Amino acid sequence: MAKSTLADSRFGYGLVSRTLHWTMALLFVWQFVTVFLSAVAEDTAIERFFWGTHYSVGFTLWVLVLLRGAWGLSQLKQRPPHEGPPLLQRAATLGHLVLYLLMVIVPTLAILRAANNGRGLRVYGIELVAPGGEANPALTAPANLLHGFLGWTLFVLIAGHIAMALWHGLVRRDATLRHMTRGPERGPRSLRSV
Ligand code: HEM
Repeated sequence: MAKSTLADSRFGYGLVSRTLHWTMALLFVWQFVTVFLSAVAEDTAIERFFWGTHYSVGFTLWVLVLLRGAWGLSQLKQRPPHEGPPLLQRAATLGHLVLYLLMVIVPTLAILRAANNGRGLRVYGIELVAPGGEANPALTAPANLLHGFLGWTLFVLIAGHIAMALWHGLVRRDATLRHMTRGPERGPRSLRSV
């Protein structure tokens, strides 16, 4: 496959970025279903089923965000520029930075807690950390304090991110959404409004 299909360009996101973005989007939907059900349908069969996947899906998101961050940094100089007035462009840069930070911090805190609370950590049935041993409060307290709160903050930011993407695509009708759905399109359509 040609490199240009995989890599990003100023005309749109390549296959690697788009696959990581949409795979993570689906997994985030799943992950937030697990926490919504635990809030509204505690102790039901469906809640137990979904909550039983929270660690594994969260761990997968953690691995994917690290890969995505590394890939994003390697593509930084050749990504599509943000569209719209300068203030909006700066807000988009800041918003994406905070999204990335939370996507890393939220699962990292929970994994540190799970690996150090003495109960062990299993992912997809595979034991990554064996149960037993002393709990380490220095590594469990940050998640106790912040994992849930920052997880919900991430939910609000993702909702804002979706709203802005739809605004670009449906109201402003510029190329922003198309860059992540169809990928790089050369020619006049790629950089201007449809
Ligand atoms: C990006 C991935 C993740 C997101 C977005 C996320 C989100 C959340 C949210 C919003 C809550 C609060 C639920 C409530 O208010 O009842 C929560 C709770 C919890 N999560 Fe996660 N989570 C993620 C990854 C993980 C991972 C990887 C683990 C374990 C290794 C984990 C373990 C827990 C546990 C034990 C709780 C209940 C205790 C608490 O609220 O801190 N989560 N998660």
